[in-house]
Amino acid sequence: MIRAHEHMNSQAIRQKFLAFFKERGHTIVPSSSLIPDDPSVLLTTAGMQQFKPYFTGELDPMEYFKDKDGNPTRNTVSIQKSFRTSDIDEVGDESHLTFFEMLGNFSFGGYFKEKAIEYGHEFITKEMGLSIDYVSVFEGDSEIPADAESEKIWKLLGVKDIRKFGRKDNFWGPTGAEGPCGPTTEIYVNSALRQAQGKPPVEVWNIVFNEYYQRKDKKLEKLKTPGVDTGMGLERLAMVVQNKPTIFETDLFVDIAPDGLPTNMDVRFKRIMLDHARAVAFLIADGVRPSNKDQGYILRRLVRRMMAHFHRAARGSFSTGDVLGMDFIDIERLLVAAVSKYGDFYENLKKETMLLVFREENERFRRAINNGVRELKKVDEVDAKQAFKLFESYGLTYEILKDFAGDKAKNLNRQDFDSEFAKHQEISRAGQEKKFGGHGLILDTGELKAGNEEELKKVLRLHTATHLLQQALREVLGKEVGQRGSDITAERTRFDFSFPRKVTLEEIKKVEEIVNQKIKEDLPVNFVELPKAEAEKVGALYFFKEKYPEKVKVYFVGKTLETAWSKEFCGGPHVKRTGEVGKFRISKEEAVGSGVRRIRGVVE
Ligand code: GLY
Repeated sequence: MIRAHEHMNSQAIRQKFLAFFKERGHTIVPSSSLIPDDPSVLLTTAGMQQFKPYFTGELDPMEYFKDKDGNPTRNTVSIQKSFRTSDIDEVGDESHLTFFEMLGNFSFGGYFKEKAIEYGHEFITKEMGLSIDYVSVFEGDSEIPADAESEKIWKLLGVKDIRKFGRKDNFWGPTGAEGPCGPTTEIYVNSALRQAQGKPPVEVWNIVFNEYYQRKDKKLEKLKTPGVDTGMGLERLAMVVQNKPTIFETDLFVDIAPDGLPTNMDVRFKRIMLDHARAVAFLIADGVRPSNKDQGYILRRLVRRMMAHFHRAARGSFSTGDVLGMDFIDIERLLVAAVSKYGDFYENLKKETMLLVFREENERFRRAINNGVRELKKVDEVDAKQAFKLFESYGLTYEILKDFAGDKAKNLNRQDFDSEFAKHQEISRAGQEKKFGGHGLILDTGELKAGNEEELKKVLRLHTATHLLQQALREVLGKEVGQRGSDITAERTRFDFSFPRKVTLEEIKKVEEIVNQKIKEDLPVNFVELPKAEAEKVGALYFFKEKYPEKVKVYFVGKTLETAWSKEFCGGPHVKRTGEVGKFRISKEEAVGSGVRRIRGVVE
């Protein structure tokens, strides 16, 4: 028998979820970026991350959120793009993913256990038409009492099977180095098909009662106002609603490979390819570009692993054949399909950007790979040192070595490789410090460096010119231009930004003209201090890698913040008026990585 809900596709589930909570006094908040503000976390791993300041009381939700009738509310609902690198080695089984969508409802001092559990129960049983197999609650330990209240609420709702677990299973958080956390109650559901196949129920919904704040030293403090934070993976929910054996048979994945994947690829690798295609598409959409650092390094590994597997599927083996001749059209198809499957619901998924970034990385990898495979053949055993060398010189990632080097890499493990990698990064950082340290600089913000008063004046002019440059680049090349780094000395400014191709001479001329026009207008340069969320609201640009405090300075060029032509999160200092900058000229434009361009500019 096919139940009515089996035909509900993922988009219908999303809409039902948002509508359900909107109807019950929640504000719908869009997903935040996969790149979080919290510098202690590389990627966004949960829906609650963007709401941390409301849980802690730093920001008052009533000032920011309104319900459907326009009244202030303490409750929000979101569908958050999430990424868990911790699960990367598990991907390929039936339920683990790197990228996933998390449905969540939140309350910052509004409702608590009773309502949160009732909402969960009603949504799962009525809206989704599922029956709850069992639920779990926190059993208590020496520090935190058992959650008898949740147990009682579930009983009143008629749930019979209530299991009790400890910290490992029923306590959640914090994300990053510190933050809100607390005991959880979890809902387990199965589909008829899975049950018939003897598969166990899956945890679909995690309802967290944020009662504590875990400090950096791991000590727990009671939060002033307890809150609710829930997380439900859309993929798992779709699996049980649509009555599928694994998440990979839901429309979320079937629609991105409607014609299937190469038949000679085994099922584990097919799943890895489907997972990675979505992950790659969403990382690129949020501005990540392949590199050997941080988020860029994650993206690079995902792309290269896909290439290696499609190459093997096409040529029968990874170590023979000419990689240079391959076009990897299958991967491009997956990426384009991901854009069309998800592009209506999520922002910034653009086919052109996707393909440009992929093709550039593709080119880099092809150039390195044949030598890499040759080198790999020469070694008898790949240990961590050897693996790092193969990565650094020939682009063979850890995952590729594990997937393809067979017995040679059997003793290689992620921990050893990661520590080799970290060692190397420390050495290059130390090199940087040596270059600039101990020279008696009178200004050194990391971004700005000046050795004496004269240099300082020049640096301030170049700094303001850099803000004008960024805004002019966005006007000429589009909003996808985002800062990737900047470095200013008395000689020049150096500005790195995301953009997928070479900037033409004509475009460079146009950018220079705009900057010089703004200089001619002699506009005032001022700053205001604002809470970070406010600053984002007024549209101030910021550099996503930078660590910003809760209150930030926004430098703006123009008479008022509202009418300003350029607005940026920035610590300063700057000149007082643009007229002081002088004449600006771009002296060089070049690539510094896939999808990252570098401009050097001077003032005269
Ligand atoms: N924040 C709840 C969860 O990620 O499960």
